Amino acid sequence: MMWLAQFALLVTSLVQPSLQQDGNSTAPFPSATYPNATSPNPAASVDASFSPPYYPSPWGTGAGEWASAYAKAKAFVSQLTLTEKVNLTTGVGWQSERCVGQNGAIPRLGFRSMCLQDSPVGVRDTDYNSVFPAGVNVAATFDRGLAYARGQAMGSEHQMKGTDVQLGPVAGPLGRAPEGGRNWEGFSPDPVLTGILFAQTVQGIQSAGVIACGKHYIANEQEHFRQATEAASYGYDISDAVSANIDDVTMHELYLWPFADAVRAGVASIMCSYNQVNNSYACQNSHTINYLLKGELDFQGFLVSDWQGQHSGVGSALAGLDLTMPGDTLFNSGQSYWGPNLTVAVLNGTIPQWRLDDMAVRIIAAWYYVGRDKTSIPINFDSWTLDTYGYQHFFAKEGYTLINEHVDVRQEHANLIRQIGSASTVLLKNTNNALPLTGKERSTAVFGEDAGSNPYGPNGCPDRGCDNGTLGMAWGSGSANFPYLVTPETAIQNEVLSNHGVFQSITNDYAAMQIQQLASQASVAIVFANADSGEGYISVDGNEGDRNNITLWKGGDVLIQNVSALCNNTIVVIHSTGPVLLGNYSSNPNITAILWAGVPGEQSGNSIADILYGRVNPGAKLPFTLAETREDYGTDLLYIPNNGKAAPQTPFTEGVFIDYRALDRAGVTPAYEFGYGLSYTTFSYSNLQVKTILGMNGTYTPTTGSTPPAPTYGTIANNTADYQFPANLTYVPYYIYPYLNSTDLKTAANSSDYGDNSDVPPNSQNSSSQPLLPAGGAPGGNPELYDVLYEVTATITNTGGIAGEEVPQLYISLGGPYDPKVVLRNFERLSIQPGTSATFTADITRRDLSNWDTVAQNWAISSYPKTIYVGSSSRKLPLTATLS
Ligand code: BGC
Repeated sequence: MMWLAQFALLVTSLVQPSLQQDGNSTAPFPSATYPNATSPNPAASVDASFSPPYYPSPWGTGAGEWASAYAKAKAFVSQLTLTEKVNLTTGVGWQSERCVGQNGAIPRLGFRSMCLQDSPVGVRDTDYNSVFPAGVNVAATFDRGLAYARGQAMGSEHQMKGTDVQLGPVAGPLGRAPEGGRNWEGFSPDPVLTGILFAQTVQGIQSAGVIACGKHYIANEQEHFRQATEAASYGYDISDAVSANIDDVTMHELYLWPFADAVRAGVASIMCSYNQVNNSYACQNSHTINYLLKGELDFQGFLVSDWQGQHSGVGSALAGLDLTMPGDTLFNSGQSYWGPNLTVAVLNGTIPQWRLDDMAVRIIAAWYYVGRDKTSIPINFDSWTLDTYGYQHFFAKEGYTLINEHVDVRQEHANLIRQIGSASTVLLKNTNNALPLTGKERSTAVFGEDAGSNPYGPNGCPDRGCDNGTLGMAWGSGSANFPYLVTPETAIQNEVLSNHGVFQSITNDYAAMQIQQLASQASVAIVFANADSGEGYISVDGNEGDRNNITLWKGGDVLIQNVSALCNNTIVVIHSTGPVLLGNYSSNPNITAILWAGVPGEQSGNSIADILYGRVNPGAKLPFTLAETREDYGTDLLYIPNNGKAAPQTPFTEGVFIDYRALDRAGVTPAYEFGYGLSYTTFSYSNLQVKTILGMNGTYTPTTGSTPPAPTYGTIANNTADYQFPANLTYVPYYIYPYLNSTDLKTAANSSDYGDNSDVPPNSQNSSSQPLLPAGGAPGGNPELYDVLYEVTATITNTGGIAGEEVPQLYISLGGPYDPKVVLRNFERLSIQPGTSATFTADITRRDLSNWDTVAQNWAISSYPKTIYVGSSSRKLPLTATLS
């Protein structure tokens, strides 16, 4: 039932399936309104509003570690009929089966339909599941091991519910603008931090035998106008989704970077996004899919569309889409761009058999790659209701049966969730060791709605689409149902009571008189405030997914001011999906401590209590900048369409200069910089050593050679009579089938475009061997990009009195006039006993030292001098060395 909310906003006119639409719009946006010249890097000044076509779509080869999965997949697909292959590629329609997305089954071979299920924080739309800390919290841990452990735990919960594909993790949005509604689902605006933790999460999920789906590819940086239909529900009249206009350098050095890491780590599926990239939809953009993802990055898994992110049949197939979800053109339309239309398009030769076979092999190879042949269990939940009995086919109301077995899949994950919650809490300020508290404070007062519970219950708002009570999770499809939510109010009260202390709390932010009274009596006042955001289909307080600003919600600032005016030991705790403005809190003497706790999941209260009372020594670092003013970020979201009724345009003219890189370039001091975070102990940095491994003089070999010709698997009978609806089929209304309703292909297609092949892009049907790309050659790109050129070590000493964790960070100045002052390239979270030292060790790879060369279409190390820095944040870099 909760689900009805998600897409109720999207109902609009039915788009007819088009069989001939090109993957790329060729209409350039008038450059008068898109001044490329302001792009910070002149080398990047291609016409970013146009996406160059690239065909044919690269076929999977079983490269790298994919060989054995491909061998099995080829053997499987070779046995399939045309309609069985089509079934693999097409979802059965919105709410036609039990998961948020399912493709067709192949009963003849015992292959059940695959279950694709949200979300990046757990198993969505079910019960007896855990709710993990959000991606942004994982970023704040700067901890590879925790990222992997969380991925594995989530993957295991999905596995036990019967999921085949977990729809996560997220590296798009990256976080170009701080208000981005879904930034919290991802990690950080820094591509290296995101890339490393994204890849670790993928490997964790897949180690549990579930396919991870890295999303949303690519440049999905805002919720506003991501879909024309959704925009219409808010009263905007636009024909097409927003276009992210990105130059080639920015694409490579920023937005593509983490996806390269995930592909290298073996991510078995990727979801293309709703937005357009340079005026071509991300799910039919032959440049981003064929050239970048499947060419340069040599991605071997399958590309699935975001739900309703497909906009053409032939166009998307030739541009490299492998699986359409949820399968219908618009929810419950009963029609599909693929399904029967794909059957027709293969039979009439518009889509070559090799392209269909490639889709099928990629899907089945992903399934084998993670071991689904061994780990798959029957689906035991239903996304559309928690009722035990209900309809197998929810929308059609057919097949009444047992649909929810309420399997408890949580295991001992609460401990890990609590641990990540505290490991991701950033200590921003701690005057005179105000923290940790002893628990023996005479009178403890807690303030703020953000400390308490949602009066509707933790799951009271569908898909968490409200900001009531403490922010344990933000809203949208990236959510999951809480099994419970430990509030800060409860956890702190338990703490105080166990010490026979006095505890009072006020969770109405507007109870001014009561707040004044309590604040003036408290020996310590802990004030909680938040800022929420989410996915575009839900608007909360006028925030249509994206935040309207970066101030605190629900009068949080007034609350903090009122309390801190009367209590000189005020501790501020912020829960937020991204950066917020902190006013003068860093210099206000009555505010003795500030903590950022992000979006911590079900154990929220226990995690913050662990930090407040010193059971855990904070070691987290800010995964973004907390600037003094909104303008300091230098980027903005587009809130009002800027191109008449045509697709809104968002030129990414800031290039690679987002977050700390923007402030560094402008010479602006933030409140707290990227990478910053205190501990209850102190650390010193010394003894930087740089060991040359391969060094910079070695050669980097551009990949040459060519692919084998496109393979086909099995033969496809060309008799249309074979593909008619089987006489014995029990037809489920609105279900998408691969079958034809006529032996005449034109009649079966039922499209006015039928027979017009003018939009089939040149070269798109070519099956002959194709040149490899110089920056390609293996999953993740040219393997020599990952060669280690230098190894850096430094000594980190715990100079305080207690054990603690520190995250030394390695930054590099690439030295060119268009390079950021410094860029993060590596980090390691170390645990160090008091009075002892640990060695920080970090590799520097060829990619770490390279820029994208738009002419060579390859990475290259420039001749500018390279300086490396090691320190405790992007601005505290005491150790430095020059690379020769
Ligand atoms: C979201 C995806 C999600 C899908 C299925 C879309 O609206 O953008 O992230 O996986 O729905 O729920």
